[in-house]
Amino acid sequence: MNTVGGVGQGHGQGHGKVILLGEHSVVYGRPAIALGIPRGCSARAEFGSVDSLAVEPWGVRVEAERPEADSERELLRRAFATLCERYSAADSARQPLEVQARMEIPGGAGLGGSAALGVAILRAIDARLDRSSAPDELLEAALAWERVFHGNPSGVDSAMAARGGLALYRRGEPLVTIHMRRALQLVVANSGEHGSTKLMVESVARQHARDTPKTEQIFDAIAALVANAKSALETGDHPRLGQLMDMNQTVLNTLMLSTSTLEAMCKVARGAGALGAKLTGGGGGGCMIALARDGASAQPIARALSEAGHEAFVVEVSP
Ligand code: MEV
Repeated sequence: MNTVGGVGQGHGQGHGKVILLGEHSVVYGRPAIALGIPRGCSARAEFGSVDSLAVEPWGVRVEAERPEADSERELLRRAFATLCERYSAADSARQPLEVQARMEIPGGAGLGGSAALGVAILRAIDARLDRSSAPDELLEAALAWERVFHGNPSGVDSAMAARGGLALYRRGEPLVTIHMRRALQLVVANSGEHGSTKLMVESVARQHARDTPKTEQIFDAIAALVANAKSALETGDHPRLGQLMDMNQTVLNTLMLSTSTLEAMCKVARGAGALGAKLTGGGGGGCMIALARDGASAQPIARALSEAGHEAFVVEVSP
C-alpha cells in the first residue's frame, strides 16, 4: 500500500512469503501455492543529493552510480540502479532519491526477502513522487529487480511480495486466490545455512538439461501434488495437506535441493506433531515450514525446533 507519511517521505511495504508446495517446478510453468506472510520489508524514500539505498539491519548503503567491489553489494547496487533508471526514464528532471529500507525477514532464507525489498522500495518511491504504478507496471519493475539477483525468477516471489494472501501462482499468469476452509497454522524455522536461490535454480536447470524427460516428469508429479494440495486447502483436509507437503519434500530431496540440516529439522517437526514438513523457497539451506494441526499444536513444534537451535516463528492465517 502506498502511503505518504512524515514530511516529504514516501513509505512502502512488501510481504515476505512461504511456498507451501511447488517451488522450482514453478520456474518451468507448473503451479505453486504460496502464502504472503505479515513479515517482509518496509522502506521510506525522500529527496536527497544522490540516488542511494540503505538497508537495515544489514548495515549496507549503496549509491546507484557508484560500482561496488563486493559482489553482493554490487548486485544490490545494480538492482537499485535498474529501478532508478525506470524513474529517470519517466521523468528525466526528477530529483535524486534516498531510500532507507528495513528487512523484517532474513535474506538467503527462502522467504522472498529480495522481492519484498524490491516491492517496498518501488512503493516508497512511487509514494514520494506522488505517482501510482498500475499493478502490472509495479510487477514488471519488481521482476526486473529480482532478475538481477536470481537470473531466471518465475515471478512468484514478486507477485506475493506485492499482494500477500494465499494464492496459486503460474508463471506469466495473475495470482489465483485460494479460499481455504480452515485456519492454517504454520511454523517457519531457519536452518541458519545460507541458501542461494540463484545457485539452486541453476542446479535444477543443469539437471533439466541433462535429462529433460525425467525432470519434466518430476515437475509433473509436483504439479499433481499442488493440485491435490489446493483442494485439501479448500476442503480443510489438513492431514492430507501435510502428507502432500511431505511428498513434495521427498521429491525436492531427489532434486538435491535439501540439506542434512533441513532433513533433520523436518524430522524434529514431525516428531513434535507436525502434519507435514518441507523446505520452502530455493532450498540448499534457508527455511523449512511445518504444518500444525491447530493453534495449540504449533507451539510445541516451534519449541522443538528452537531447542534444536533454529530460530522459529508461527504464522497463523485465517480463512
Ligand atoms: C523461490 O522462492 C522459488 C523458486 O521456485 C524460484 C522461483 O520461482 O523464481 C525456487
